[in-house]
Parts: sequence; C-alpha cells; structure tokens
Amino acid sequence: MDRLPAAPGARPGAGSWSGTRAGDPGRALLQLDWRSRPAAAAPPAGRTWNVLGGGAPLVAALRALGDTVAVHPDAASAVGHPTVLAPFLPPPGGAGAAGASGAAPGALVLLKSWLAGRGRTGARLVVVTRGAVAADTDEDVPDLAHAPLWGLVRAALAEHPDAFALLDVDGTEASWKALPAAVASGEPQQALREGVVRVPRLVAAPLGGAPGGSGFGPGSTVLVTGAAGALGGLVARHLVRAHGVRRLVLAGRSAADARLTTLAADLRRLGARAVVAGCDMTDRAALADLLAPAPGAPAITAVVHCAGTVDDGVLTRLTPHRMAGALAAKAESARHLHELTQDLDLTAFVLFSSAAGVLGAPGRANHAAAGAFLDALAHHRRARGLPALSLAWGPWAQRGGTAGPLELHRSARSGVLGLTPRRGLALLDAALGAGRPVLVPVRLDTARLRAPAADPARVPGVLRALLRPLPPAAWAAASETPV
Ligand SMILES: NC(=O)c1ccc[n+]([C@@H]2O[C@H](COP(=O)([O-])OP(=O)(O)OC[C@H]3O[C@@H](n4cnc5c(N)ncnc54)[C@H](OP(=O)(O)O)[C@@H]3O)[C@@H](O)[C@H]2O)c1
Repeated sequence: MDRLPAAPGARPGAGSWSGTRAGDPGRALLQLDWRSRPAAAAPPAGRTWNVLGGGAPLVAALRALGDTVAVHPDAASAVGHPTVLAPFLPPPGGAGAAGASGAAPGALVLLKSWLAGRGRTGARLVVVTRGAVAADTDEDVPDLAHAPLWGLVRAALAEHPDAFALLDVDGTEASWKALPAAVASGEPQQALREGVVRVPRLVAAPLGGAPGGSGFGPGSTVLVTGAAGALGGLVARHLVRAHGVRRLVLAGRSAADARLTTLAADLRRLGARAVVAGCDMTDRAALADLLAPAPGAPAITAVVHCAGTVDDGVLTRLTPHRMAGALAAKAESARHLHELTQDLDLTAFVLFSSAAGVLGAPGRANHAAAGAFLDALAHHRRARGLPALSLAWGPWAQRGGTAGPLELHRSARSGVLGLTPRRGLALLDAALGAGRPVLVPVRLDTARLRAPAADPARVPGVLRALLRPLPPAAWAAASETPV
C-alpha cells in the first residue's frame, strides 16, 4: 500500500466521521473485500525472471510458460534487476502447520537486505505467497505460517512504497498463467484465484447477521487476557455492564498486578464474580493450567484476547528476535488459546488485532505481522465451525494503551483517527453482532486522506472503494468537506 501522505495544513479531525456521525458505528466498521478486476494484457512470452532461491513450484510454473528463470541464492546477488520475485510457498499439505512466527522473521531479514542493496534504484521485490490471505470467500483458510508476511510487507510498503509488492497465488495453472501480467501491472497487493486477479478493498461491513447473538451473556464465563492493559480493562467492564456477564477470569502477567486487583474489585462492585490469574501467555503449559477449571468451578465459555506487546521501529531497525518476541505475546499466544480451548464449548473467541496488518503502517511491522496472523486464525477457526472474531482495531485514544500520544499524532496525520472508548465499545458491540470473522473498526479521516491527492490514483488501493474517485475539480474542495 502507498504511504498515507500527511496533508499540510489540514486540521486533525477535520471532515472526520466523528462530528457528524458519532452515533453511527456502521461507517467505521469495515471489512476487507477482495474485488475481481480485469486482468492486464500479458507481457510477451520469452521473458527472463529473477527469482530468489526456493520456490520450486514458482520456478517450474514460469519455465512451463516458456520463460527463462535465473535463480539467485540471496537478495544481494539479485540486486541490479528491476523486478525480483521472492517466493514464500508452503510445502504441499503444510498449510497452517507451523507456529505463529512462521515465515515472518526470515522474511524480515530478506526485506532488510533488499532495501540495503537496492538503494534508490527503484527495483521492486515481489513477495509471492500461496494461500496466505482469504482472498476468495469467507471459507478461504489462509496459511497461518505465511499470513504474517502480508502484515509485514504491508508495513514495509507503508515505509517504502516502491520497493515491494505482494502477490498471493492459489497454485492453479490459470493463476500461474496470469502471474506475468499481474507482476507487470505494478499493483502493490494482489491475489490470483483460478486466474482471476483480486485486489483488497475496505468496504463498510454489513451490520447484524450474527445467528447466535453477541456470544456474551449472564451465563458466560469470560477469560480476558491482557486484562491489566488499557483495553482489557475497558472491555471487561463493558461486558459486565452492557452484556450482563457475571463471571470473569482476568489474566495478566502477574496476579499481584494492582491494575488487575483493582479491576476485579470494580467488577465485583458491579455484581460480577471476577478472579485474577497470573499467566505468561507465551507459556503454553501455564495457559493450559489456567484453562483447566478448578473442581466445581465453571469452565471458560468465551475468550477475549487482548494480551500483546508493542515493539515498534522502522523496518531497517527491526530484528528477527524482536519480531519473534512481538509475535509470541500476541500471535503465538492466540494459537495456544485456539488449540487449548478446542474442547470447550466456546460461544465467543474475540481477538484484538490491529489495523496495521490491513492498512500497513510505518514503523509497525511487528504489530502488523501479529495482526495478520490473528486475522488468519479467525478465518481458520470459522472454517472449522468454531466461533471467531478478529478485530483489526485502529488506534484507541485511551490513556495507557498501546497507541501513545505520538502514535496517535502520527496516525492522525496519515488519516486514521483515535477511537474514543465510547466509540470503540460501540464498535465492539456492532462487530459482535455482525457475524463476520474479521472486521476493521477504524476511524478514518476521509477528508484528510483525500486532501493531498489531486490525482485519485494516489489514494491507497485498499481505501479506494471508500474514497470514491471524485472529478478532478472536486478534489481540492474535498479537504474542506465532511464525508
Ligand atoms: N490500544 C490501541 O490503540 C490498540 C490498537 C490496535 C490494536 N490493539 C491491540 O489490542 C490489545 C490491547 O491493547 P492495549 O492498548 O490494551 O495494550 P496494553 O495496555 O499494552 O495491554 C496489553 C496487555 O498485555 C499484557 N501482556 C503482554 N505480553 C504478555 C504475556 N506474554 N503474557 C501475559 N500478558 C502479556 C501486558 O502486560 P504488562 O502490562 O504486564 O506488560 C498488558 O497488560 C493489544 O494486543 C494491542 O496490540 C490496541
């Protein structure tokens, strides 16, 4: 995705939905829609491709098209070519088998090495995945080991719009045939399904439609992870006040954490039974103990996974170690929760993911990779008939949360505004009733997003369906007009 450029002189909040539509969560609850688009004309056959090592199916498919393939052992040796393909293809039958860290830390090394080598040459690394995104239908089950790559590269694109592209294939012959035209189109994010090009577009999510209601009620016993954090506390209180939840397990890193004990006391005053539990979410055995009900105690019936750590930094400063750490706290822990609760009859499994994984965001590759994993996990669960909702939140304007004042400021400058707790919780309720596996609750400042783009083609692709192209004369006026 293109970087969301800041509009010089535009006021934060000007033209946002907040002023005119504060009571309407629909416009801020978005979902990713993969739209078919006509395939571009294929470039002439007899091409020469530069491909990084591995990815035998890709190399074989390109050769079957009658093209020549130069295989390079690493990014350094491929530098100098304007377009290089970097395949990350799971072995046949390997979908979903690996852990949450999967391919992302290794891919980070590659992206950094590509950036270092390409300098300012304008060369592009096309990261080719197979089945890493749910680009076809809701029943698409993304490969869990490769899904984080999409978050990682989306964040990389936000920092270096011309250096990368993402292309997801399905392995069909028709898609291999369509690949040369897709690469030549220069579109930064595409999926090929049965030869059809699909591009991700955010659209308003239809509201209502969850067959079983919100999944939370007086009969629920809810495990809230990251309960000592800013959003965990807000959500726990909301579940008691607005959903009538009467039993909660509040999990934090330490049961002695004053934020947890205070929260539990508050919830008891509201009439709920709340117990606190210390558990490092990356410790699978400790989590298994937490989920095993004590004799006579009710089993967990719903999970809200808010635990996660922030480890932001521009791509060139991140390390595989840092990335693995961030993925462990947020994504690997979600995988443990998923696996360890399969025999419980859950009514809700809510994951706090991040809009960074969908929109990309400079400096947030770790968060984006973890978010993309959570979104894929939600699809994975749904396909197995298990409850799942991954919420790819935009930043919350909530003191103490992962989005600090600097992040909120940066984000507002790129057209994504902070969610007030009231609005965020209203969006949570709307999302719980929407019946979708993945939703993107985010407050976009559409005027600011439009303002710098005299050329509609500069609107980032993923936002293009929301920010419908205006006639050129209207673009200047758009910066002043609430949308
Ligand atoms: N706030 C936002 O604007 C925003 C936007 C998008 C997504 N999100 C996501 O929503 C979730 C909640 O956000 P937040 O703002 O409430 O974050 P937060 O205040 O930092 O809370 C996260 C909590 O997770 C806990 N945690 C981290 N690693 C853990 C581990 N290994 N084991 C157990 N607990 C662990 C932290 O414990 P300690 O306090 O002990 O470190 C913290 O209490 C996060 O996953 C975040 O990525 C937040």
